[in-house]
Amino acid sequence: MDYDVIILGAGAGGYKAAVHLLKNKKKVLMVEKEKFGGECLNYGCIPSKALIEMSESIYYLKNMPGVSIDYKIDMNAWQEWKNKMVSKITGNAEGQCRALGADIIYGFGTIKDENTLNVNGKDYTAENIIIDTGSVPARIPGIDNVYYNREILGIDHVPESIAVIGGGYIGVEIGTAMAKLGSKVYIIEAKDRILPEVNEELSKAVDKKLRSLGINIMTSSKVLSVSKDNYYKVKTENGEISSEIVLMSVGRIPNTKDIGLENVKIEMDGRFIKTDNHRRTSVKNIYAIGDVTTGPMLAHKAFYDAYVAAENIIGNDVIVDYKAMPYVIYTDPEISFTGYVSKNSKKIMTSAVPRALTMNDSDGFFRIYYDDDGTVTGAAIAAPRSSEIITEVSLAVESYLNIKDLLLTVHPHPTIAEGIHDDFEN
Ligand code: NAI
Repeated sequence: MDYDVIILGAGAGGYKAAVHLLKNKKKVLMVEKEKFGGECLNYGCIPSKALIEMSESIYYLKNMPGVSIDYKIDMNAWQEWKNKMVSKITGNAEGQCRALGADIIYGFGTIKDENTLNVNGKDYTAENIIIDTGSVPARIPGIDNVYYNREILGIDHVPESIAVIGGGYIGVEIGTAMAKLGSKVYIIEAKDRILPEVNEELSKAVDKKLRSLGINIMTSSKVLSVSKDNYYKVKTENGEISSEIVLMSVGRIPNTKDIGLENVKIEMDGRFIKTDNHRRTSVKNIYAIGDVTTGPMLAHKAFYDAYVAAENIIGNDVIVDYKAMPYVIYTDPEISFTGYVSKNSKKIMTSAVPRALTMNDSDGFFRIYYDDDGTVTGAAIAAPRSSEIITEVSLAVESYLNIKDLLLTVHPHPTIAEGIHDDFEN
């Protein structure tokens, strides 16, 4: 065999798997059709957070009592900075893999048989294969020529108006950022609330704040057609919208076509690759991780899958357990969730957390869930930088900690994390 492992797709998961395998002396080939780092680093998580950070900084100063600011946004200059920042991250990741000894080939890889992958007309063999080919945006048939995550994060100016089709993760994050940058924003969501897959209390907190930012939210509303002249015309079940840009964010579909899965007769779960809790497919030496498998389409889920698959290839018997899989949506308030809901919970408002008041950003709440014996089961948090503190609760869930452990953990003052601690003081 040429390699111990061939990794198909050098996205978030593929990269993490490679590093772990290489550090454990495995000979690794990575095959990537486009850019090292995949969707998250190049066109998703990283650039979107940079845009959101800019919009929040402007909004923060604009709303600070006693401050008046006059500002100009040069999106071309921002894009130049953002592209360099992204290249630094992806370049470091690729450099690390090469330094650890990985071979990396750019080209479209297809699985020929359970030990062989073909790329650029040449066959390469390996004991194991990891599939991490990611996902692409879902499209609505008949609606073309609109923006998706890649195009919206590559804009050269702040649009005057934007209609967002789909009020999920992407729609709500980008909609919030654009509203804070000055665009008129419409969010059209087919279900009866934005963020329909998210904890309802969190979704309601976001809905309230976004409406106060002037975002026009249309729920239970499907898009019927989109046409483009000078401006877009978006016909919905509830009327017509005219906007400069249309962003389509109606979910993502796994990249499982044309990669040769039929050659090895891998079992599928619809368009997703079926895996066991070792991340092994129905073909015992082929693993699948990240968006091509069922579960949340999150980069950190792909990282976790990658570690588990790599550990099993190394020879350790490790299984996935998603009980404390956090999710974060970088909207306003920033919302985070981990673990699971149980019938007992304690709630405090973010406005009771002094650090939030110093930030002039105190919308939201902290709700911690626990079992009858006090074991922490999860949390829903809507507060500034909740993304930075949710891991404390994940660790509590993973470690079966009691609410008293949270109370007895000294939290520095003043911090947002005091909201987790203060929940149990009364
Ligand atoms: P999504 O699945 O989060 O949301 C899609 C939304 O579109 C749903 O609310 C759905 O009801 C709605 N929808 C579907 N068809 C529609 C129609 N015809 N008209 C109106 N609404 C319609 O998908 P999204 O926002 O495209 O994001 C893709 C993936 O990227 C997500 O699965 C998410 O996990 C990931 N992501 C994660 C982020 C984070 O972790 N902060 C940020 C951005 C994306």
